[in-house]
Amino acid sequence: MGNKGNNLKKPGVKTLSIHHGETFSEETGCVMPPIFSTSTFKHGNKQNFDYTRSGNPNFKILENILKSIEDSKYCTVFGSGISAVTAITSTLKSGDKILCESNLYGCTVRMFDKVFKKFGIEALYTDFTDKKSIKKIKDLQPTLIWLESPTNPLLKILDIKLICDEANKHKIPVVLDNTFSTALIQKPLELGATLSLISTTKFINGHSDALGGAVLTNNEEWNSKMLFSQKALGLQPSPFDSWLITRGVKTLPLRIEQQTKSAEIISKELENHRNIFKVLYPFNQKHPQYNLAKSQMKSGGSMLTLKLNLNKSDTFKFCKSLKYFSLAESLGGVESLICHPATMTHASVDDKTKNLLGIDDSLIRLSVGCEDTNDLMSDILFALNKF
Ligand SMILES: Cc1ncc(COP(=O)(O)O)c(C=O)c1O
Repeated sequence: MGNKGNNLKKPGVKTLSIHHGETFSEETGCVMPPIFSTSTFKHGNKQNFDYTRSGNPNFKILENILKSIEDSKYCTVFGSGISAVTAITSTLKSGDKILCESNLYGCTVRMFDKVFKKFGIEALYTDFTDKKSIKKIKDLQPTLIWLESPTNPLLKILDIKLICDEANKHKIPVVLDNTFSTALIQKPLELGATLSLISTTKFINGHSDALGGAVLTNNEEWNSKMLFSQKALGLQPSPFDSWLITRGVKTLPLRIEQQTKSAEIISKELENHRNIFKVLYPFNQKHPQYNLAKSQMKSGGSMLTLKLNLNKSDTFKFCKSLKYFSLAESLGGVESLICHPATMTHASVDDKTKNLLGIDDSLIRLSVGCEDTNDLMSDILFALNKF
């Protein structure tokens, strides 16, 4: 054991999540950084802070932690995951095309189809689990490729490296929304993505009490574009939310460990239940992309999607009769949540598309929290056995 002298190894992720380096308040010795609740800064300050819309010490502290756990050169924080989506999409111009995975978070689809479409930006959708769709990159020559893996809510696993290799051949940037995994489970930039996007509202913060987003990259030009979007479009977070997320991220590795362990156990135990038609969990052997998930991800994460053998009304009764899983939007917090994607996260997606994707009325999505595994398991079984 032991490293001698200055020959320290790169710290592990539990250490990196806790030690945020500079707190911008060294003279006080405070261990936790203060909340720099200021809109503006006196000119001539050492760090060159100017106005909080374009930077604030609390943003910098959080950006430094996110960079260190992702191993990226740059990070820009935003007011929400959707602000991060806006920041990237706003770099496009009329006539540009985004080639997207067909199953994306509903509000990302809404943003493309209901907002940016009006400005002449076209989103095209394809099932990237089908190897043939890789050919579309060359044929369509899109301006940008937009991926999620695992996808929300179907937990499809895309071959990130394969898609990025093809995109990089044609110099097409790839965005990977890594909200469901975080850098602890997979590192999109290492797999070839240009931009790794994350809603820090979810696992990174982990306590369902703040909203945030971030874009990480190794590309200097993209970093400048993100800083420009943060400032020019007013997409910045608040110092307080950044401070909360900085506090939350310190326990990310511990939370992910517990949440993943429970999700894996629940996925196994539920697969043969009479009221479960299908369990979707990346590290469950029956998952259609199980081998790919095993090769690309460090763990299966803590999102679990179930297709129930119940009609819509009983599916809702089931959701509402759970004690520890609250029926609510969002995911990734210490508390377990259940969601009905067809009427909640994907309500804005048209019915035809939802049917085509398989987001139907008996599909539910669980975000497994940090409660005791046995309690969560009994809660689900008790509610399921009523039908
Ligand atoms: C995959 C994914 N990306 C982005 C977002 C948007 O994040 P936010 O709610 O922080 O805007 C969400 C929210 O659920 C999400 O699930």
